[in-house]
This record gives sequence, structure tokens and C-alpha cells, in this order.
Amino acid sequence: MENDCSNAFIRLNRLTRIYLQGEREQRVLDGVCGEIQRGETVALLGRSGCGKSTLLNLIGGIDQPDGGDIYINDTCINQMDEHGRTLFRRRHIGFIYQFFNLIPTLTVMENLLLPLELNGYDLAEGRHRCMTLLEQVGLSQRESSYPDQLSGGEQQRVAVARALVHRPAVVLADEPTGNLDLESGQQVLDLLDRLVRDEQCTLIIVTHSQAVAARADRIFNLRQGRFVASEDVVW
Ligand SMILES: Nc1ncnc2c1ncn2[C@@H]1O[C@H](COP(=O)(O)OP(=O)(O)OP(=O)(O)O)[C@@H](O)[C@H]1O
Ligand SMILES: [Mg+2]
Repeated sequence: MENDCSNAFIRLNRLTRIYLQGEREQRVLDGVCGEIQRGETVALLGRSGCGKSTLLNLIGGIDQPDGGDIYINDTCINQMDEHGRTLFRRRHIGFIYQFFNLIPTLTVMENLLLPLELNGYDLAEGRHRCMTLLEQVGLSQRESSYPDQLSGGEQQRVAVARALVHRPAVVLADEPTGNLDLESGQQVLDLLDRLVRDEQCTLIIVTHSQAVAARADRIFNLRQGRFVASEDVVW
């Protein structure tokens, strides 16, 4: 991204991430540049091991780049200290993972309340918000269930609700249907699609599925450490 006057919501500027494997350096991201507008859904594609999860973790402030900058709404998140990044992440980012990652010792409602508690929100109001989202994902009867009492598809619908409960500006989904059968996957995608549009979130979704990519506003294809034209997609 050469143009610093850009007003894109998310800006990735020459991002580099290098992993050390013994003596050897693996340059997983090698100058990634890209811009994402507010409210856009972007599908992030590329073959296994190309760095998709690495990139998502940088945008979510979980990991730090070795070079380059990430701006979210004009905040340069990699220049914040770890505490600042944690607060930023709690407030503005929602994550959805392939393996759901709900907390097994907490009920559905407690899992949903957690992001609100971490942000210091009023929990009476929070419960109302959680119930509304549970209704939207079709699980209002399951607020007292534990994750292991739910099917995979149901757990992922809870995870979608959890990712959105604190009204984040950005939702990062790492192969959210990768562990679901076709029908449950479809249901999760429909919900995610609807909710991020209703709530005007910006969504970056990592996928190996052409059907998922087809729904996105734009496709970013990661190859050899950079974004390349989508005609070169390797599925
Ligand atoms: N913490 C780490 N330390 C060393 N190498 C790592 C680390 N995390 C990832 N890698 C390596 O970086 C590369 C990119 O990994 P990443 O998980 O980002 O790929 P991916 O595109 O998400 O793959 P997949 O589609 O299989 O999930 C891989 O070669 C991986 O082995
Ligand atoms: Mg991955």
C-alpha cells in the first residue's frame, strides 16, 4: 500500500512474518499489501501452510509482524504494546475458529457473556443481548447447556453469536465450516452472513470452499507470502 492517504477501514502495509525453524528462516508473509473497506466480506484463500492463519492472527493482534504495519480504522495495532493490543482486540475483534473453541466448563450463556464481562459491560443488559443473539442463531432453548451437549453445528452457531456479542467492528473467521457437514456448514454461513451484514461488521473469512468464497464481496488469494490475482487460486 503506497498510498498513505487511503481511508480504507483495514490497511495492510508490506506485512512480513518470519518463523525461525532452528537455523532456518521461513518467510511466511513477504510484503502483504491490501485494503478492506468497512462492512466488506473478504474471503482469504490459499493452499495449506501458505500463511492464512498467520495473517489472521496478525490482523487480530494475537501475533506481531516482523515488518510492516496493520491499520484498523487508523489505529496502527502493531505499534501498541501488548496490553493495548489485548484491550483493542477484546473491544473491536470477534474470532471464529474451525474447532469452535468454546470454554467447556461454561454454559452457552456464560460463554456468550464472557466477551461482555471482559469489556466491563453491564451484565443485565448483556444477558438481553445474548438472548437476542441466541434466538437469531436458533438456540434460545440451549442457554444452560454445556458445549459438549451440543452438536458441532450448534457449537459453531454459539461461536458465531459469541464472536458478535460485543458488537465488534471486525470478525475474523478461520475455516469456520471446516469441521462441519455440508448442511450445518451452510446454516452457519447463512447466519454469519446475515449477522455481519445486520451489524455492519467487516468479515475476513479463511476458507478452502469455493461456495464460501462465492458469497464474499472480494477474494484475497495468498501465495508465496503475498496476495496474487484471484485467477491463480489453488483450491
Ligand atoms: N508458531 C510457529 N512457529 C513456526 N512455524 C509456524 C508457526 N505457525 C505457523 N508456522 C508455519 O508457517 C506456515 C504458515 O502456517 P499457517 O498456519 O499460517 O498456514 P495456513 O495457511 O493457515 O494453513 P492451513 O490451511 O493448513 O490452516 C506453515 O508452514 C507453518 O508450519
Ligand atoms: Mg490455518
